[in-house]
Amino acid sequence: MACAHGWLTEAGDLAFSIDASNLVFGRGALAEVGDHVRAICVQSASSKPRVALFTDRFVGALEHVAIARASLEAAGLDVAVYDAVAIEPTDASFLAAAEFAREGRFDAYVSVGGGSVIDTCKAAILYATYPADFLTYVNKPVGAGVAVPGPLPPHVACPTTCGTGSETTGIAVCDVLALEAKTGIASRRLRPTLALVDPACTATLPASVVAASGFDVLCHALESYTARPHRARARPERPSARPMSQGANPWSDLGSLEALRLGGSFLERAVRDASDVEAREKLTWAASLAGIAFGNAGVHLPHGMAYAVAGLVKDFHMPGYPDGAPMVPHGVSVVVNAPSVFRFTAAACPERHIEGAALLGADVRGAAGPADAGEVLASALERLMKATGIPRGLDAIGYDDDDIDALVGGTIVQKRLLDNAPVAVAEPELAALFRGAMHVSGDRR
Ligand SMILES: [Fe+2]
Repeated sequence: MACAHGWLTEAGDLAFSIDASNLVFGRGALAEVGDHVRAICVQSASSKPRVALFTDRFVGALEHVAIARASLEAAGLDVAVYDAVAIEPTDASFLAAAEFAREGRFDAYVSVGGGSVIDTCKAAILYATYPADFLTYVNKPVGAGVAVPGPLPPHVACPTTCGTGSETTGIAVCDVLALEAKTGIASRRLRPTLALVDPACTATLPASVVAASGFDVLCHALESYTARPHRARARPERPSARPMSQGANPWSDLGSLEALRLGGSFLERAVRDASDVEAREKLTWAASLAGIAFGNAGVHLPHGMAYAVAGLVKDFHMPGYPDGAPMVPHGVSVVVNAPSVFRFTAAACPERHIEGAALLGADVRGAAGPADAGEVLASALERLMKATGIPRGLDAIGYDDDDIDALVGGTIVQKRLLDNAPVAVAEPELAALFRGAMHVSGDRR
């Protein structure tokens, strides 16, 4: 079976870059945050540096924020809490947070929460430091894609879930309300100064939150591993302009493979039993590894399609998530597309699809060609989705075939993600992928 991953052309970008994340990982690490921030602020002119602590009102009520705040205050820092982060951030909520940051003139920032909190903190720091119209820094074609002009103040990101990997990436995602589009800002300068990952924070997460977050991890790893190889992407105009979504490369492969191995071994256990400390810790480490991988490779079609799936939500609510407006959890919006996508992309790199399936626990003996490779990986994901109670198929979250045009319309603008796929796609291919994602294969009517 031919698999030319990485060796497709000598005309492409032969180099790849590694943007390392500074990471502290371990049980109890959250209580270290004060000392780390104090050390980062060592050059501050103030004897009592000012620190903004970002969270949302749900995480703010948990002990995590109290632990972080006590640690910061014990280190002699002046702390101001911002707990108005939106569960699904928008351009308006990003700019409201930026106003808080601008007025506070902080020396450093700490975010404690899920991806929404960390992303909001990144955006607040950016717009407070280099004010501009909102769409200035937003990815093309939705925004102007202007480069972040210079360095940003320090940001220590402390995730309380085990999925998004936002603590290790330079990406911030939001809804642009006027355009009804979900998109993001991507810059190496947005990457947090330090990721402080404490797996003890996951002990109180409901099973459905762990499942949704866990599938986000698996998709970060699978998409990074099967992304267009970096050698197949055209060389950048200047070496310093090489994108973060540079495609699969040897560095991102390391994190992807280990994250898949850990996910295959521990996802079901972590969902089934909140007291399984080992499983939740291993899944949290997988999330960090997958974040490092996709922060250096980029994700592709499942995430690109997810923006539309989440943005066009009708009345779906996921058990275990806060009541309120209808919302498809990020990991669910991604993984519902994944089996359909991997059946399609397997032809580009069948060996990588089979390897991914094997790490997720599938029996891949006899999987010999592109058709087998796509099916074996799609089936492995569908089995895990069933075992963990995650909605399977777009129909399970309220969509039907009449929605496909709108879903395609919301996806075709995600150029950064679509360009990172191993197979070129346009509207007809995306429509076919959404049709394939409507029902789980075994449940087709
Ligand atoms: Fe994700």
